[in-house]
Amino acid sequence: MQIEPFLTEQFFTKYEFSAPHLLASSDCETISISELLQLAGSSLEEFGSLTLGYTESQGNPRLRSQISQMYSSIAEEEIVVLTSPVEGIFLAMQTVLEPDHEVIALRPAYDALSNVARHLCRQVVPWHMIPSDGHWALDFAQLESLINDQTQMIVVNFPHNPTGYVPSREEFKRLIQLAEENDIWLFCDEIYRGLEFEERIPSAADLYEKAIVLSGLSKTHGLPGLRAGWLVIRDPALRESLINWKHYTTICPAAPTEYLASQAISVQEQLADRSKQIIRRNLTLCHDFIESFSDRFIWRQPIAGSVAFVELKLELFGFETATDFCHHLAREHGIVLLPGACLGYDDHFVRFGLGRLGFGDALQAFSQVLKTTT
Ligand SMILES: Cc1ncc(COP(=O)(O)O)c(C=O)c1O
Repeated sequence: MQIEPFLTEQFFTKYEFSAPHLLASSDCETISISELLQLAGSSLEEFGSLTLGYTESQGNPRLRSQISQMYSSIAEEEIVVLTSPVEGIFLAMQTVLEPDHEVIALRPAYDALSNVARHLCRQVVPWHMIPSDGHWALDFAQLESLINDQTQMIVVNFPHNPTGYVPSREEFKRLIQLAEENDIWLFCDEIYRGLEFEERIPSAADLYEKAIVLSGLSKTHGLPGLRAGWLVIRDPALRESLINWKHYTTICPAAPTEYLASQAISVQEQLADRSKQIIRRNLTLCHDFIESFSDRFIWRQPIAGSVAFVELKLELFGFETATDFCHHLAREHGIVLLPGACLGYDDHFVRFGLGRLGFGDALQAFSQVLKTTT
């Protein structure tokens, strides 16, 4: 059975491991296993003594207990440890959705958040982010108009990839109230949580019983190669059905990943602070860069996260679409920017990724290209 192309991953597959200048990555700078173990007060020797038997399907209880403490009111048994964050999107939607259901999904979005739902049910209706003057915005009147009797799930992601948007507390309450009043599941992808520059709103898991919350260590903590992710599911029946689906996909988490994830969570603040320091520096560089080419770009400030979504005045680039421009930039100049079309949005936006140490050099290379070729 076919599913829509995973455009973001297909784009990165082409260039991520060959292009020298990565300007679009959503993960933050990583560290080595030795560095992680040292930071957490463990050792390679202790890691080496781990045995490689099967692990518990729902996840190691100690790890689940550590994860549950990242929330205010969540118990260990409400956590399901995954074999990767992205697996959680597949499992949750596969478990909840039926062919006659409708889903409302925030757009733009990481592909899987709308494509998996579209594969499974009648319709995925986009809830469009609004590009306002200098910032992004949510349109609640639009959301209210999209809800109907068939709506089974609302899919959101905050802090948002790619705009860096986070709702205010009032907006988040309104979203949850709408879901609650209409008895709708709220799938809230919180994988960039912890990368707020100002206030952090509560997790949806702590506010709503029918929230399904996705998180993991790939972005905020800079450990995407660990493939550590989890879902928070408070509804016991849903949790049981989802774990049944999980027996068909990955059975149980990888033992080395669970060990290292536990170490990482024990030093989560240090890892997140390190990522935020890098992002803050790069955000200033990015903002200054856009200012210096303000005739060609439109900037909307991200509030949180490791990415920014920037509008191109395409006519000044000499390309019909951002996709054409990004392929050209990667092929001819080894600079990787992600076209917004991969994230289901208008093809005159690009995503910048702010979490990597090489961002400044990559931006310098991009600057050179803009000065000399367009
Ligand atoms: C919003 C969002 N959710 C989930 C994922 C999946 O994370 P992972 O690649 O670590 O499985 C990503 C990855 O880019 C993402 O941006």
